[in-house]
Amino acid sequence: MNDNYENCVKDLISDRKKWLVTGVAGFIGSNLLETLLKLDQTVVGLDNFSTSHRGNLDEVRALVGESRWSRFTFIEGDICDLATCRKACEGIDHVLHQAALGSVPRSIEDPVTTNANNISGFLNMLVAAKDAGVSRFVYAASSSTYGDHPGLPKIEEEIGNPLSPYAVTKYVNELYADVFARTYGFRATGLRYFNVFGPRQDPEGAYAAVIPKWFSGMLRGESIYINGDGETSRDFCYVDNVVQANLLAACTENAQGEVYNVAFGERTTLNELFDLIAGELRQKRPGIVFPPPVHREFRAGDVRHSLADIGKARRLLGYEPQYSVRSGLNKASDWYIAKLG
Ligand SMILES: NC(=O)c1ccc[n+]([C@@H]2O[C@H](COP(=O)([O-])OP(=O)(O)OC[C@H]3O[C@@H](n4cnc5c(N)ncnc54)[C@H](O)[C@@H]3O)[C@@H](O)[C@H]2O)c1
Repeated sequence: MNDNYENCVKDLISDRKKWLVTGVAGFIGSNLLETLLKLDQTVVGLDNFSTSHRGNLDEVRALVGESRWSRFTFIEGDICDLATCRKACEGIDHVLHQAALGSVPRSIEDPVTTNANNISGFLNMLVAAKDAGVSRFVYAASSSTYGDHPGLPKIEEEIGNPLSPYAVTKYVNELYADVFARTYGFRATGLRYFNVFGPRQDPEGAYAAVIPKWFSGMLRGESIYINGDGETSRDFCYVDNVVQANLLAACTENAQGEVYNVAFGERTTLNELFDLIAGELRQKRPGIVFPPPVHREFRAGDVRHSLADIGKARRLLGYEPQYSVRSGLNKASDWYIAKLG
């Protein structure tokens, strides 16, 4: 653990806070919940289970134990309802807002629903948090905001045109955050996540992300499809790095009202990713067999390459990702093998 994160964790243990995590039953939300409860924080969680299930909460409960679990209050509700957001924000110090409909393809198929959840829901949360006087509001932004900007690595100030309805919604979140800072002096902090992966990321369904989809497919011996020639690249980021960024963003003085890239800072092609996952599975499940990958058409709305410059988060938040893609895949594979193997 780097010094900044260690100090942040020490401060939280000595001066406990009350947190609201929206999207708490989801992949990233449940990982935030697990860490916060292990640090003896008090947590309120809000979720409507639209893209997740109770099993994630049950798993966190088993991991943290009953005593710590008693510090958690769950509200089943929708961020599209302002009254629910207001109730969830009562008495809260720090908000980590994760609830949204992810997935570029989902937003292309149904832009109206993505818009309602990701823009109106986000605005409700901003209003509720501002009116409740929360001290920190940290929200999940997205690398999709870089859109068609060709520059690599991506730096926060230079963005292009959005390539999907999802990307529009995530950019509008940043615009609203900016306007709330200027209009009301309420300074929300955006974390532009780059392709996060790790335990509890859903492998099922049409909109599953590549890493869980491939883990589950390969464990079942199914064919894996690679969109395009496989030289498309991403800055894959293990979820514990994202948890670190959230806690630092909430704890660091004078770093509010900004957007930060949250990634590992390295590029991995899909072909390389396939080999890394195959290597993990072969090592942990000797004798496992799966067919070679099948290449198919490029997918609409996908950018060709993505790589973050994480210098701003390093400088202003003291962010230092602890897990590389390889060490993250090593941890994630244990979870997928235990769950699906
Ligand atoms: N996973 C990634 O790689 C990635 C990358 C960039 C940004 N993000 C953002 O991070 C956040 C968390 O993503 P995730 O990967 O954990 O996805 P997820 O689908 O696992 O979690 C999202 C959670 O929000 C809940 N939710 C959705 N709409 C809601 C609503 N209207 N009211 C209440 N709850 C609602 C879902 O039920 C789910 O539990 C999202 O905002 C997403 O856009 C994720």
